[in-house]
Amino acid sequence: VKIALLTGGGDCPGLNAVLRAAVRKADLLGWSAVGVLDGWRGLIEGRTRALTVPDVRGLLPRGGTILGTSGVPRAEVIAALPVIEEALDALGVDAVIAIGGEGTLAGALALSDTGRLVVGVPKTIDNDLSGTDVTFGFDTAVNVATEAIDRLHTTAESHHRILVVEVMGRNAGWIALHSGVAGGANVILIPEVPFDLDQVQSWIESRFRSSFAPVVVVAERAVPDDPALLAQYGATDPWGARFIPGGGPWLAAQLQRRTGRDARTTVLGHVQRGGTPSAFDRHLATRLGLAAIDVVARGEHGRMVALRGADIVDAALADAVGTLNTVPRSRYDEVAILFG
Ligand code: F6P
Repeated sequence: VKIALLTGGGDCPGLNAVLRAAVRKADLLGWSAVGVLDGWRGLIEGRTRALTVPDVRGLLPRGGTILGTSGVPRAEVIAALPVIEEALDALGVDAVIAIGGEGTLAGALALSDTGRLVVGVPKTIDNDLSGTDVTFGFDTAVNVATEAIDRLHTTAESHHRILVVEVMGRNAGWIALHSGVAGGANVILIPEVPFDLDQVQSWIESRFRSSFAPVVVVAERAVPDDPALLAQYGATDPWGARFIPGGGPWLAAQLQRRTGRDARTTVLGHVQRGGTPSAFDRHLATRLGLAAIDVVARGEHGRMVALRGADIVDAALADAVGTLNTVPRSRYDEVAILFG
């Protein structure tokens, strides 16, 4: 059996751990593996590299992906399916293991629909994929953000300032919620729950009254509930969603103006995506890589591997495509009583 492995979409700590586990297990079974460079783009352009056990040595602590990645729009992958199939035939590949987020897995589903054996492995720091309880990469991102919040508390308090921390999570506030709770943020704002700026101001003022300085964790796409503010400061992304560009700095400026307190912003950005994966993510990624090989061995079509409770299971690839896993209102309200 020959498998092709590819990593698509935004990179994420743990991708290399999946590659390592899958290649090692494939080798134990007497199979061979080829790595596709830069996700679907590499398959379309016929760019690959060998992936043997020596190639995956030492990869557990390494961030990013040794294969490279790219975000190819799903329509482009679908349009290129004949080219992709030709490339796979030329390589003599029996099965494809596609490691990626919603976009990459949509491409995997389309390829699987042609009758190919394709197994999906879900990944994203945002933790917004349906069909799995948790994605690897998320734990690392939360740890990075939590450490930043811990550090920002002391400088906020020394200067009696507001500190706004902008974290990633384009469509879901999981990183903001988990890091904000773990770091004891005084306010957490997520895209799923548009915020009332008056309420945020009053939480900030109450924090200052208790003689501590507030730390506000805001997901990059959290927006105010006031349509006038959104109309004045907002923009529309290519998928039609409204957001405020530079949402963190914008919020800090609003709060400084309203409260008369000095406000600063830290935008964590790609620091959350880069670098060494946490032990949790390495463990989860390893289990998923091993399980993906089992799915290939069973010859199951249209499947992805997923974490459900403590178990790795296989689920329909279609489960991960179309609907995102966003933060339920009840999960937000559960901790919002601590704000202020
Ligand atoms: O989906 C992962 C993610 O890091 C989001 O949190 C963020 O909005 C986006 O990717 C950033 O993408 P890029 O690296 O292409 O700017």
